[in-house]
Amino acid sequence: MTDLANPLRRSLPVLDPAAVPGAPSGLPAFEPLDARLAEYRPEVRSLPSFFVWTLGCQMNRSDSEEMAGRLVAAGATEAATMEAADLVVINTCAIRELAEAKVIGRQGHLQRLKAANPSLRVVLTGCAVRERDRDGLEHRYPAVDLFLRPDQEPELVDRLGLASAQAPVGAVGATTVVGRTVVGVADHLAATRAAAVAGGAVARGSATSAWLPIIYGCDKTCTYCIVPFSRGPERSRPFDEIVEEARTIAASGFREVTLLGQNVNSYGHDLPPEPRFGHIATERWAGRRLDLGSRPDLAELIRAIDGLRAADGAPAIPRLRFITSHPWDLSDRLIEAMAECPSMCEALHLPVQSGDDEVLRRMGRQYTTEHYLERLARIREAIPGITVSTDIIVGFCGETEVQFERTLRFLEAVRYDQVFAAAYSERPGTPATRLADDVPAADKRRRLNALLALQEPIGLERNREWLGREVEVLVDAVARERSHDHDAAPAQAPAQAPAIVGEGSRADEPRGVRPRPGEVALSGRTRGNKLVHLAGGADWIGRLVRVRIEHAGPYALRGVAIG
Ligand code: 5AD
Ligand code: SF4
Repeated sequence: MTDLANPLRRSLPVLDPAAVPGAPSGLPAFEPLDARLAEYRPEVRSLPSFFVWTLGCQMNRSDSEEMAGRLVAAGATEAATMEAADLVVINTCAIRELAEAKVIGRQGHLQRLKAANPSLRVVLTGCAVRERDRDGLEHRYPAVDLFLRPDQEPELVDRLGLASAQAPVGAVGATTVVGRTVVGVADHLAATRAAAVAGGAVARGSATSAWLPIIYGCDKTCTYCIVPFSRGPERSRPFDEIVEEARTIAASGFREVTLLGQNVNSYGHDLPPEPRFGHIATERWAGRRLDLGSRPDLAELIRAIDGLRAADGAPAIPRLRFITSHPWDLSDRLIEAMAECPSMCEALHLPVQSGDDEVLRRMGRQYTTEHYLERLARIREAIPGITVSTDIIVGFCGETEVQFERTLRFLEAVRYDQVFAAAYSERPGTPATRLADDVPAADKRRRLNALLALQEPIGLERNREWLGREVEVLVDAVARERSHDHDAAPAQAPAQAPAIVGEGSRADEPRGVRPRPGEVALSGRTRGNKLVHLAGGADWIGRLVRVRIEHAGPYALRGVAIG
């Protein structure tokens, strides 16, 4: 087991797969033209085939793309399944107990795989790896050889001993104290990300839509949330590096970019002031007392990325999105930029968490329902028809029936397109552990079901508004055989999407599309992020297609391509 106590120490490689007699080396044959170069001959070793198991939000999926890219750049190959791999990287989520339990529950399976394949190594990273309970990790995850905090992920290749002897030691994660807890700090992540992008070491999972992390960590004070303790304080990536990555993404032919962060709309407040951002000082809505003078913000970033244009003057990246937002930081500047930039998609995920002000106060959300509704009205006025989704937690500490009913009335008033709801799950070390988790599990379940039952017809009504209309669909997948399975995990679920989304009745869903000979069942997204099923050519993946909507269900639409 590797020394975990001191992250500053470069540990001995944990990956030392037994040499397989006769097996080809992972490195290509080396025949130097000049005999003097022979001394630089890379050491012969077998490189692992790896499998990355990703749980949780888009930030995790984006991080996994970076880790996979680094492994590929080091010479490793990707295995199709966990069982076929000799390196398993588990990127965990800790937002609810269930997410952690899922990985704990697989330890036995991993141990059996290790018994059958002594070369197998298991790395665990993501939000379940927190500094404060390092000691408990080995006990909870006995099959794991190496634990890395999220901010230590760039060290993966080094710590496995896969980097060549000449390569520089990877970034070393530092720590800081949040409250009374030691947490990792993402200080170096901007630099390591830029290096990974420049070196082509980001293995993007899609050739159509790209994730682009812009800010790491979270400074908010939501009492239920583990993220500030797993991901540390907010660290924005430098403005020009993000725009440069967007330019690379555009040049590679991606049609859609999603800017990522636990709270994207506080982007930039921690960057140094610069004269070129001087105009932001007075214009920025200061709902929050921070020295924001002359620093970039999300609005400025959106305008810069939207400003990357193709030869014909159209946005080089046709679709721009961001997730996830805190209502407190939804500035007028941001709303204006969203309304004015043609590439900015007409969709917003704005978590409200509860429709009761007293519950919001206990959650430490720092806004009232009135403030939230004012922001929502402002954005709906600026961008008519914008689709809006949200996150709700039911059964938070002390939530009464009356307070829960207020959340239901709130959902009726707002009429969200989509609601991601989950029962409150107490997370160790969060401030809410000082409150009593006093809503019985059965009540949490009942409230969750009541909420989902209320939302389903609202979602259906929202979707029916699209019937007969022509929309632009970005085709991103060949649907599975039974294409009416609309409850499949959405490709563009919000960042940190809760695991529990409405199960819903499928009776009202659109029937499966019926591809004609030569066609396949496809799915894609509208600019408003609605899931659309359609029939078309297998080569349509990545294309923007005009579609007339013919059928609507609570969770998806179905249409036919026109023209
Ligand atoms: N219990 C239940 N849900 C939670 N979320 C965050 N922390 C918890 C928790 N402890 C939900 C919030 C957040 C979403 C990503 O997950 O609704 O917006
Ligand atoms: Fe971590 Fe939160 Fe993402 Fe889960 S949802 S992986 S806790 S950042």
